[in-house]
Amino acid sequence: DKGNHRHFMEKEIHEQPEVVSHALAHYVDLGNHTVDPAATGLIDFASLRGLAISACGTAYLSGLIGKYWFERYARLPVEIDVASEFRYREIPLSADQAALFISQSGETADTLASLRYCHSAGLKIGAIVNVKESTIARESDAIFPILAGPEIGVASTKAFTCQLTVLASLAIAAGRARGTISEAEEKQLIKSLAEMPRLMNAVLNAIEPQIEALARELSRYKDVLYLGRGTSYPLAMEGALKLKEISYIHAEGYAAGELKHGPIALIDENMPVIVIAPHDRFFEKTVSNMQEVAARGGKIIFVTDEKGAAASKLPTMATITLPTVAEIVSPMIYSLPIQLLAYHTAVFMGTDVDQPRNLAKSVTVE
Ligand code: M6R
Repeated sequence: DKGNHRHFMEKEIHEQPEVVSHALAHYVDLGNHTVDPAATGLIDFASLRGLAISACGTAYLSGLIGKYWFERYARLPVEIDVASEFRYREIPLSADQAALFISQSGETADTLASLRYCHSAGLKIGAIVNVKESTIARESDAIFPILAGPEIGVASTKAFTCQLTVLASLAIAAGRARGTISEAEEKQLIKSLAEMPRLMNAVLNAIEPQIEALARELSRYKDVLYLGRGTSYPLAMEGALKLKEISYIHAEGYAAGELKHGPIALIDENMPVIVIAPHDRFFEKTVSNMQEVAARGGKIIFVTDEKGAAASKLPTMATITLPTVAEIVSPMIYSLPIQLLAYHTAVFMGTDVDQPRNLAKSVTVE
């Protein structure tokens, strides 16, 4: 049931404040601002030498953001790849590593094959899934449900932000178990995560009219480039994936620093560049990449926060200004303009948003 929404995707985008709060309540103790040992302790992070993560599509991109978190907060090296490559790379694996598989459906064939590969190498297997009765969940040692509720739209939205919520909680738990973050840091991080549902609500209410107008303009272009640095880099790839799968506009996500190693040759007035840049420790660097775009007549859609908007004087096609948020929640908050922009562009173009051509919700062939 779509309720009063035109598409499941629209409904699922708007459900995010509620579902991420369910996910969060499962993994953290919101009264004491600590991780919940029962929910996060199914993997013994303290004794691990490394973590391997494998998934496909949007689930892979959430894993990529998870890698930044596990490495930063838990000093735990993460090996990550798309499942269709992971299983053929003959990665040297050992039993002092654990493996995490991320899948909304829990049925993705390549992800399942990677899981079986890791299982035969003797690794402890964890699954971050939405469907708890799925094959991937059944074949895992530890199940981490994302609690997003059924996701019907082919384009993954709420599953992504719930996967991120689970990964952030696990990275904090791993940091505590490994002694790489203090009790005070844990409290601070969890307080920041607790702000997420309220912030998401505020952002959804604030930006949708602006995004709708912008989508109308974006629908006139054939190619779009997304740039980001740090955890905004996987988000840039997620933005490009979302746009191409439902609007059929060609889009690419790049690490902002890679711009001058190739894609800058494409910049002209016909290719909008969406720059995802909260005012974080990467901001100055990303703005200098943005300058390179502006200097070549590129049209910029700047997704930033109040501080970032005030700090940059570059001309833009649009600036989407979000509230200033803690670094750990920025991927979840910045997902919202990215999803809405893809959604409204597709609606404006009249494509089948919930059932885009050539795609299936669950990919059960390799
Ligand atoms: O069910 P899974 O999470 O394993 O699915 C993985 C991908 O097929 C999926 O995320 C796909 O990329 C989405 N259509 C993206 O919106």
